Amino acid sequence: MSQVRRLLAGAPGPLSYTDSQALHGPMRLSADLHGVVEHAGLRGRGGGGFPLARKLASARDAKGRPVVVVNAAEGEPASSKDRTLLSVDPHLVLDGGQAAAFLTGATQVVVAAHDDVDRLRTALGKRPREVPTRIVQLAPGYVTSEASAVVSAATAGLGLPVSRTRPLAQGGPGRRPWVVCNAETLAGLALVARHGAHWHRQVGTDDEPGTLLLTVSGGVRRPQVVEVPVGTPLRDAVRCAGGLRAPAQAVLVGGFAGRWLPAATGLDAALSHAGMRTAGGTLGAGVVVVLPAEACGLAVTARIMAYLAAQGARQCGPCLNGLPALAASLTELAAGGSVAGAVQRLERWCGLVDGRGACAHPDGAVALVRSAMTVFADDVRAHGTGGCGRDGAEVVAVPA
Ligand SMILES: Cc1cc2nc3c(=O)[nH]c(=O)nc-3n(C[C@H](O)[C@H](O)[C@H](O)COP(=O)(O)O)c2cc1C
Ligand code: SF4
Repeated sequence: MSQVRRLLAGAPGPLSYTDSQALHGPMRLSADLHGVVEHAGLRGRGGGGFPLARKLASARDAKGRPVVVVNAAEGEPASSKDRTLLSVDPHLVLDGGQAAAFLTGATQVVVAAHDDVDRLRTALGKRPREVPTRIVQLAPGYVTSEASAVVSAATAGLGLPVSRTRPLAQGGPGRRPWVVCNAETLAGLALVARHGAHWHRQVGTDDEPGTLLLTVSGGVRRPQVVEVPVGTPLRDAVRCAGGLRAPAQAVLVGGFAGRWLPAATGLDAALSHAGMRTAGGTLGAGVVVVLPAEACGLAVTARIMAYLAAQGARQCGPCLNGLPALAASLTELAAGGSVAGAVQRLERWCGLVDGRGACAHPDGAVALVRSAMTVFADDVRAHGTGGCGRDGAEVVAVPA
C-alpha cells in the first residue's frame, strides 16, 4: 500500500491561503455538519483517539461560550507530523479551528504551539475576517502540551497540567467549555467540512476511517512523515519510508510514552487503535521508531526514561519520586552487572506509579518500561552477566 495524500495534498508547500482554498475548495459550514462529522467517525490524532463529534457536542451543549484550542505543540520528540502539516498547509489546520468554532458556537480560537509561532502568525495575518484567533506560545517541555496545561497557558496560568474532575469540553477555566484538539484532527475536520463523510470513509477501516500521519524514523532508509489509510500494516508504512536499513529487532509505537513491540509482531500489526491494541501497542501520536538488531533496546529505553523523568512537572508523587526512580533503575540495568535488584525496583515502582498521576504522563512512562522489560527480556538476562555490548544512541534522538 502506498501513501494517500489528503492532509498533505499540498506537499511540499507551504500553501498560501488562496492556494489552499483552491486546492481543497471552500468549507461548507451548514446546519447538517455536526451529523456529517459524526458519520465520518473522525477521531483525535493527539494520542487518545477520542471521537471528535462527541467532544464537539459536549462543548456545544455545555454551559458558557466554548473556546476552541488548536493543539499544534507537538511536544512528542519522536513526532514531526504536526510540524510537517503546518509547514505544508497551515491554513487547513486554521480552517479546522474555524469549523470547530462553528460547530460549538465558540467565540474564540486559541492556537497553542511551541516553536511554530512565527509561521502561524504569518498565516493568520493572511486570512479573511473570522472567529477571533490568538496564538499562545507554550513554555518548552514535554508536559506543557498536555490539554489542561495548554488551557492553563491560554488563561495566564502556570502552563502545567492541572488535576481535573471533569472533561475540559464540559467546563473549564472561566466557566467555559474548552475544546482542545490536535492540529491534525482539525485539519481532518476541515477536509470533512468540504468533502463529507462518505469521502472520508473511502479509506481506512469501518471503525476508524480516514488517513493517518505517521512519523517513521529509526532504522529506516528515509525517515519521514507519511500519510497512509488507518489500518495500514506497519510494514507498509516502513516501506513508504524507504524500507528497513538493517534487520529490525523491535518497533517503538506511539511515542516516548508508547510501547515496544517485537519486530516479528510489530511489523505485521495494523496502524489503527484496534490493531495496535491487539498487538499490545498503542497508536499514540502516530510515532513509529524501528530499532535495528545492532542497537540495545534497554539502553535506548533508559535514555528515553531519563528524558521523561526530567520532563515531569513534579507536582505529584509519581513525577516527583516515581519517574526518577524508574529512570535510575533502568540506567543501572542498561549499564549491566548485577541486575536482580534493578529489575525488582522497576517492578515495584511501576506498580506504585501506574494510575496515580494527575495527568497521563506517568502512565505513559510506565507502559514504556513494562513493554521494554517484556520485549527485551533476553537483553535483561544478558545485562545480568555484564551487558550486551550494543548501544543505539544514533537510533532515537533524545533531547538533552
Ligand atoms: C504529557 C502529555 C503531552 C501531550 N502533548 C500533546 C501534544 O503535543 N499535542 C497534542 O495534540 N496532544 C498532546 N497531548 C494530548 C492532549 O492532552 C489532548 O488529549 C489532545 O490535544 C486532544 O486532541 P485530540 O482529541 O484531537 O487528540 C499530550 C498529553 C500528555 C499526557
Ligand atoms: S503527573 Fe506529573 S506531569 Fe502530570 S500533573 Fe502530576 S506532576 Fe504534572
